[in-house]
Order: sequence, then structure tokens, then C-alpha cells
Amino acid sequence: MPTHSPATWSAIILAAGEGTRMKSSLPKVLHEIAGRSLVSWVVQTALDAGATRCLVVVGHGRGDVEKELVARFGERVEMVLQPEQRGTGDAVRCAMEADLALEGRLVVLYGDCPLIPVGLLDDLVGHSDRAGAELGLVTATLADPSGYGRIVRNGAGEVQRVVEDRDCSDAERALQEVNPGLYAMRADFLREAIAELTPDNAQGQLYLTDVVELAANGGKVVDLKGDMADLTGVNDQKDLAVAAATRRRRMAEDLARSGVGVTDLDTLYVDAECKVEPGATLGANVHLRGRCVVRAGALIDIGCVLTNVVVDKDAKVLPYTVAADSTIGEGAQVGPFSHLRPQTELGPRSKVGNFSETKKTTLGEGSKVNHLSYVGDGVIGEGVNIGAGTIFCNYDGEQKHTTVLEDGVFIGSDTQLIAPVTIKKGAYVASGTTITRDVPEGALAVSRTKQENKEGYVARLRARLRRSKKP
Ligand code: UD1
Ligand code: CA
Repeated sequence: MPTHSPATWSAIILAAGEGTRMKSSLPKVLHEIAGRSLVSWVVQTALDAGATRCLVVVGHGRGDVEKELVARFGERVEMVLQPEQRGTGDAVRCAMEADLALEGRLVVLYGDCPLIPVGLLDDLVGHSDRAGAELGLVTATLADPSGYGRIVRNGAGEVQRVVEDRDCSDAERALQEVNPGLYAMRADFLREAIAELTPDNAQGQLYLTDVVELAANGGKVVDLKGDMADLTGVNDQKDLAVAAATRRRRMAEDLARSGVGVTDLDTLYVDAECKVEPGATLGANVHLRGRCVVRAGALIDIGCVLTNVVVDKDAKVLPYTVAADSTIGEGAQVGPFSHLRPQTELGPRSKVGNFSETKKTTLGEGSKVNHLSYVGDGVIGEGVNIGAGTIFCNYDGEQKHTTVLEDGVFIGSDTQLIAPVTIKKGAYVASGTTITRDVPEGALAVSRTKQENKEGYVARLRARLRRSKKP
């Protein structure tokens, strides 16, 4: 919560634009960085900074944008419709008209600026309030300011107005101080100023930026320096990649600072909703997506891609493992090169080894699937050993069926288990067996022809083959 001022403030976030420059069928503000849409990053920042209300102006792709916001924030966000995208000024007008009760200070943010630090909002509101300004805004300096609105100051160095890139004179275009698009305004001032906007510009739109000149002429404007690295607006795919890279790097640094072992700050990809406890270690080129949880002492080694996976204490996920919607128990070991598909639940100290694939399977404490197996729709007890090349034949072409291996079962290598089937406690299945019926407790199941050794056969065979060879 802000400490500088008891005054409350509300956020208006503009997210109605189409974003044609993205060249994508997805509304621009729904493009994701680190597993969170652009607009959700902005909403989260406003909420974290202490906005009492958070209005989001929606329009293009409204159904999808609303769905995303409701799923993530529920009633903490309020939607306002901008029926036609007639500019950022028109978007704010829609919010003001939809809600006549908006008062106090209003912070307007653009839904395509995903890196704004919480503290900057706090500073801007505090600074504007203390100065009693009609309008406070953030400015930043850029070596290449193209695309951004430029800040025009008067002889006394005060902000006078903002001029859009397309409307700049040559002299204005050379200005390097830009408008990142972050404003804190008094509601009563904004309501009057919005009514005065005209579409008298290169795009024929209502520009929110024109309220800066109105504030400067009739009242007080204050400004705050920001760092453009925090304020990038995403207009095209390149901007999106740049913003994602910045966010990725910060996340890696934050994790390292919190006590997570990070092998390579340059190649760690952790989505916003993942949790990694101090004392865990993340290798190079690791991707944690969605809502992963990695507990203390766990190791996620090089090149693993985990999506919504819980990795319990001291578990090891060895290189190049791919896993989704699964849990890996305490002290368990997975990989290298394992594939855990959804609903895999590995018990404590269990093992899934190289080139093994699992799906919708529980593996009890200490059980092992060490090499080259497919284990799908399995219910596997404790202390079970599954030999190399074992296949759970779970699909009959119409439905999936379950294979149950009770505690202490031993499955020899190269076995097929044709589900539905149950191997009872402590039973053995001999290598190379095709199991079609249940195996009783403690029994040995074997289904293979007896071995025969033909003494001296190879020499006779070779002689015959040589004789029949064409010259
Ligand atoms: C805007 C600013 C520019 C600033 C830049 C910073 C204006 C006129 N210009 O330009 O000074 O330097 O941001 O990133 O404000 N939107 C709506 N309804 C509309 C139009 C836009 O909701 O009718 C939303 C968009 O979804 C987007 C945001 O407003 O999230 C900004 O719109 P965009 O078209 O990207 O503005 P810029 O050209 O980047
Ligand atoms: Ca923009």
C-alpha cells in the first residue's frame, strides 16, 4: 500500500485497441510474456500498487480479453466497453462516462506496457498529490524515440504538451524525451478535459495525450523521470520479444537473489506464476511454464521443460526431461530424457529413467521405471521394478484401460501388459512375456517358447548359404 498519502486512487487501463502492428489474430493485449498476458501484467501492477478500483477499457476481441481478466482477477477488475476504437482519449471518455462516481486521483495506463514497476506508480501518485497537480506524468529519454509521443517543454523547462510521432514537426521529431504513457490525473480535471478533445490530428482520433496541454494551460503539470527499460510499449512482435527478454532476465535475477541456485542467468525461463523455493537449483536452458512449484533441495538440470509440475524436496530432474501437469515426489529422480505426460504422480524416492514415457499413472514409493518403457493408465504400488522396454498396452483402439501393479511386483524386461490387467503383490513377470490375464500374488508369469540350442548348427548353415550364393 502507498505510504505517502491517505488518498485513494483508481486505475483506468486501456486495452480496447486491435494492435494491427502485431500482425496476429490474437488481440494485442492478450499476447503473453512469461506466461501472463500483457494486460494482466498491467492490471497486476495496478493492484499491487494499491489501486482501490481497476477499470479496464475493452473493445477489440472483447470476449477473449474479458474472459482472461475475469479468470485471473475475478471481481477485482471492472470492464468498460469502448464500442469503436477512436483513440486513447475516446477510451478514457468511455470509462469516465460509464462511471460517474469516479473521483479522487485517476491513474491511466496503457494495456500494452507490461514492465512498469509497482514503485513507479506509487511515486507518481504521491508526487502528483503532494504538488496538488491536475496532471502528473512520467517521461523518459530514448536514443531512438521514433514511434513515441514527444514531450515538449516551455522556456522554463515545464512540460507544455505531448505531440504524437506522426504529428511532429522536424524540430519536435528530434526531441528525445518521450511519453511512456503513464498519467495520474485529478478526476474532476480529466472529466472536463476529455470533453474538449478533438480529432484534429494525423490519425483523426481523440488523443489522450492532448489533455497534457489542457492541464498545462489551465493548471499544474508535474513530471517524473522514468527508465525506458521499464516502460516499453509493445506495438509489434519485436517489442514483445524485447519486453519478454527483459522480464525473463529480471525473473532469473530475482530468483537468484532469493536464494535459488541459477546456473545461467541468460537462459533461465520461468513464468510469472511459478514458485521456486530458496535452496532449489535450476540449470541452464530450463523452462518452467504455467504454475510449477519447485521445492528446496530439488534440482532441475539442463534443458528441462516443465509445465504445471510440482517438484518436491530433494527431487532430481535430470537433463532434457519434458513434463506436464504432474508431480514428482520427495527425493524422486526423473530423466535424463524422460517424458512425463499429464496426471503422472511419482511417489517419494521413485525413479523414471531415460527414454521412458508416463501418462495418468501413479508410481508408489521407491518404484522404478528405469529405461525405455511406456507406462500409461497405471496404478503402481511401492517397491515395484519395471524392466527395460516394458509397454503398458492401455488402448484397445476405442478405450483406455488400467494396469495395476501391486506392491513389490517385478516386471522383467521387454514385457507387454495388455490392460485391463492386475499383477498381484510380489508377483514376477518373466522377461519377454505378454500378459493378458491377472497374475496371482507371489506367482511367476511367463509366456514364451522354451529355448532350444542346436549344437554346431552355425557351421552347417553357413556352408549351405555359401553353396547357394550366386557367383
Ligand atoms: C501511445 C501514446 C504515445 C505514447 C505511447 C507509449 C496516445 C495518443 N499516444 O501511442 O504518446 O508515446 O502510447 O507507449 O495516447 N487503445 C484503446 N482504444 C483506442 C486506442 C488504443 O483502448 O481507441 C489502447 C490500446 O489497446 C493500447 C493503448 O491504448 O493498449 C495504447 O494504444 P496504442 O495505439 O498502442 O498507442 P501508441 O501509438 O503506442
Ligand atoms: Ca502502444
